[in-house]
Parts: sequence; structure tokens; C-alpha cells
Amino acid sequence: MKKKLDHKFCVAPMMQYTDMHDRYLLRLISKNIFLYTEMIATGSLIHGKCFDQLLFNKEEHPVGIQLGGSNVNDLIECSKRSEQEGYDEINLNVGCPSDRVQKGRFGACLMLEPELVSECLFNMQKAVKIPVSIKCRLGIDDNESYDFLYNFISIVKESEINTFIIHARNGILKGLSPRQNRNVPPLKYDYVYRLKNDFPDLEIIINGGIKTIDDSRNHLMHVDGVMIGRAAYDNPFILSDLDSIFYNAQSIPKSKKQILNIYLEYVERQIKNGHNLSRMMKHLFGLSRGDKNAKSFRIKILEAIKNNTLDGYKKDLEELLVN
Ligand SMILES: Cc1cc2nc3c(=O)[nH]c(=O)nc-3n(C[C@H](O)[C@H](O)[C@H](O)COP(=O)(O)O)c2cc1C
Repeated sequence: MKKKLDHKFCVAPMMQYTDMHDRYLLRLISKNIFLYTEMIATGSLIHGKCFDQLLFNKEEHPVGIQLGGSNVNDLIECSKRSEQEGYDEINLNVGCPSDRVQKGRFGACLMLEPELVSECLFNMQKAVKIPVSIKCRLGIDDNESYDFLYNFISIVKESEINTFIIHARNGILKGLSPRQNRNVPPLKYDYVYRLKNDFPDLEIIINGGIKTIDDSRNHLMHVDGVMIGRAAYDNPFILSDLDSIFYNAQSIPKSKKQILNIYLEYVERQIKNGHNLSRMMKHLFGLSRGDKNAKSFRIKILEAIKNNTLDGYKKDLEELLVN
């Protein structure tokens, strides 16, 4: 029996966004939310081209790694490696619509190959002790019916995985960019709710277009978990009440100034470890979202990035935040 993880609230995997630094920042804001890495293609992991994408901070737990691939042996090898690294879960990407990913026969195009997906997941979860999950779409191109999704899940669940994260819109492989694929195909939350009704034993997590904690609360009346991507990146402070709302934590949430100061100390430590200041600082842009000085705060960050230093900026940044 695999360990049961709490996915009530997850932050979505996002390439170039949810790197180890962003995850460290998010973890300062909520102790309990479930975090995911950016997608790592099995090929880059096996050939050592994923640079520091595999790294994570011990503070990040619980954190899942997201893999992209469809070669069973490669996925087994990468799953074992991910477990050794200390990740809490492995997630298979069956939702990315980019051309590059399609050429590699993975991501969203795998929605047309449920038997292969099931075989991959079955072998991955057999190879490791940690849980394995999937993140997929409702369908692909003009396969828009609920029956298509039902059939996909019926076959994939034979792999014996239990956690399904569903981005509640179709992926369109021809004619839409990955960015458009996150906005243009209509959201159909009712399909995801129906899935939970039809497969009550599966853990179903809903994703796509969810912007507020109130929205999340409403979705949680129908499904087991909520995953938020862009809204959490653009305004990470919306996560600050989650520990008390969803996890009964008694502790007082940190203020924006406290979060900033702890994060800047982290940045200073990581610069010494060779990490890039610009990559770490850009994650702070959203911290001042909604504040009267939001623009000045962002300009100050840009200045620090341009001068590649924190010297002389820490106090100014702190003063620009309201609380
Ligand atoms: C910049 C960016 C990068 C993304 N990269 C990934 C990825 O690596 N793996 C993945 O499964 N989804 C990826 N996504 C999709 C998100 O995980 C999520 O499914 C999508 O943004 C919808 O959720 P949202 O409306 O809450 O943002 C990415 C989204 C964005 C905005």
C-alpha cells in the first residue's frame, strides 16, 4: 500500500515558473500545499541535460516531480532516479500540447493512446514505493465527448494509480499554441465532477482557470483536490490563508515583509551556490500584487536584476510592501 498524500490544494507544474526557487517561496507562504516541479522530459534526465531542474530544497516537501515521456523503460529509470532524489510523488504529463513534445510522442497526444499510458503508469508505480499520478486533459482535438474522457480514465485506472489531475479543457494539437491551449478551449468543470461521481474511489483533482480560494472551496464540494497555476504564480500571497482554511493550522501566516526577508536570505545563500540572481528574483514580482506600490516594487526588482546584486535593495524592497 502506497503512502497517501494530501492533494487538497496543489500548485500546478509550470515550465520556467515553478522551479526550485519559486517552490521555496511558495512553501514560505503555505506549509501544506502540494507542489510540483516543471515537466522534465525523460530524455533530458537520462542524458543529463536537465541541469538544475532535478534539484530541490529539503523545505519543499511535499513535492512531486513531473515527468514527460512515453518510453516505458525510460520512465522506469527516471522514476527510480526521482525516488532516490527524495521526491514524494511522480506525475506523468499527458497534457502538454507543444509541437516539440508531440514529436517526442508524449504529453497531450497520449490521450489517444490510453493503453500505452496505462502500461507506462503501471510499470512506473511498480518500480517505486512512492505514489505515481497523472495530469491530463479532458480530451484532444475534436474528441470532446464525456465518453472519450470516461473511456480514457477507465483504461488508465487499470494501471492501479489512484490520483488523476484533470485540466478541465481539451488540448488542441493543431492550430493553437501552448499558451492559447491554456485559454481558448472552453472549461468544462462538469466533466470533472461527473468523473468523480462515476469513479468515486479515484482521487480527482480539478485544474484550469481557478483564481480564488472561494472558487477552490466550491470545487472541493465536488472533487478531492484543486490545482491552481497562474493565479498562484501571479499573486502568491493568495495562498497565505490556506493553512488555516484547509488544513486547520493554528499558526499566524507570515506577512509579505517577513516572506520577502526570508526569501532574500535564501537568494543570498543560493547566489553563493552558483544560482542565478535574476531567475530567483523574478518570482518576487507577484508578491506586491494589489499593493499601492506594486509597480515601484517591480521596478526595484528589475533594477536589482540589472545590477545583478541585492546590495542596497533589501531595505527599499521591504519598505515598498504594505505589510
Ligand atoms: C508558463 C506555464 C508553463 C506550464 N508548464 C506546464 C508543465 O510543465 N507541465 C504541465 O503539466 N502543465 C504546465 N502548464 C499548465 C498548468 O500546469 C495548468 O494546467 C494550466 O496553466 C491551467 O491552470 P491555471 O488556469 O490555474 O493556470 C504550464 C502553464 C503555464 C502558464
